[in-house]
Amino acid sequence: MHCTRKITEDITWIGASDRRLNLFENLFPVPRGASYNSYVILDEKTVLMDTVDSSVGAQFFENLMFVLRDRALDYLVVQHMEPDHCAQIEEVMRRFPDAKLICTEKAKGMIGQFYNDGFFDRILTVTEGDKLSIGARTLHFVMAPMVHWPEVMMTYDDLDKVLFTADAFGTFGALSGNIFDDEITFDSAWVKDMRRYYSNIVGKYGAQVQAVLKKAATLDIEVICPLHGPVYREKLEWILDKYQAWSTYAPEEDAVAIFYASMYGGTENAVDILASALAEKGIHNIAMYDLSTVDVSEMVAECFRCSHIVLASPTYNGEMHPRMHELLTEMKAVSVQNRTIGLIENGSWAPVSARKMTQALGEMKNISILEPVVTVRAAVKQPEWEVLMQLAEALEQSIKK
Ligand code: FEO
Repeated sequence: MHCTRKITEDITWIGASDRRLNLFENLFPVPRGASYNSYVILDEKTVLMDTVDSSVGAQFFENLMFVLRDRALDYLVVQHMEPDHCAQIEEVMRRFPDAKLICTEKAKGMIGQFYNDGFFDRILTVTEGDKLSIGARTLHFVMAPMVHWPEVMMTYDDLDKVLFTADAFGTFGALSGNIFDDEITFDSAWVKDMRRYYSNIVGKYGAQVQAVLKKAATLDIEVICPLHGPVYREKLEWILDKYQAWSTYAPEEDAVAIFYASMYGGTENAVDILASALAEKGIHNIAMYDLSTVDVSEMVAECFRCSHIVLASPTYNGEMHPRMHELLTEMKAVSVQNRTIGLIENGSWAPVSARKMTQALGEMKNISILEPVVTVRAAVKQPEWEVLMQLAEALEQSIKK
């Protein structure tokens, strides 16, 4: 049975949520599921804005056929060719033999990679500034390359002042009937998932996000319709501010994220001592993560939130701990920059993890490493405790300046 929501009089959400999905992209844990948004515009012409993942294809077609009723589909606009959105385009084009598919030239090439011919002669390509009148409204195509694939574009409906934004402004998390920002309580779960989605999936492409935000600033936007998560019609300024911070790699908060690996508790003891010293100093925005038990995508998201980061790692096979290596690899991959870092190393006979972490951080932009670097030899003793107090002092000075 169909399950849809009206966005405006002429635009209907026809997406669906997958609450059985364990790993988004077979990579990111999604305990709150994921939504795949698709929209239909009914004007003199009928337009479908993207399709959905194969997991929710049956629901999508129920919705599509219900909204179209006895009308045929005139246009399918494909803004992004990742399969969580393009999985149904072949079936859509088969069901509607007169429909035209509108996409960028790069997307057209990808369609040829993903699909066999049967509708390729019905593909129309568009580029920056191209327009399509569909009746009372005109669709304006806005190129958004590398947000986060090269073929991506956005689409602006100039009548309802709706910007369809592909993955931008999307988030992990299934929708639960409420699809609008003003129907949802943006509690920590939603905001954490939004930040985790952005930082891990789009985070690398801050410059490209900045470019498209500048284009968006020239449009009169009343509604943002992303391909995942809530539709924005009230909190536009709020979500645009988040994107401004994330895409310029500016910390959202004066906060300390402590990431540690600990094999037998010695390194964990060191970070507990450090965190307690910070709390004694009145610094309470502290989050601590055991690298062995927390998914790396959560820690990458915290790197985007927090101004200060502490990395604490034992020495392992003459290297840093493997989980710390994984975190630093991901931090570099998503272009974490503009952060102040404290380092703690541990090593019972030849500690080198601080040097290895420093080398890895050297491959990132605008990273400041605080003095002193703390070296623990197996377990914290009085001399190491005193150096931890000095690091706490350095963090306090840096946060409060
Ligand atoms: Fe939601 Fe890049 O696909």
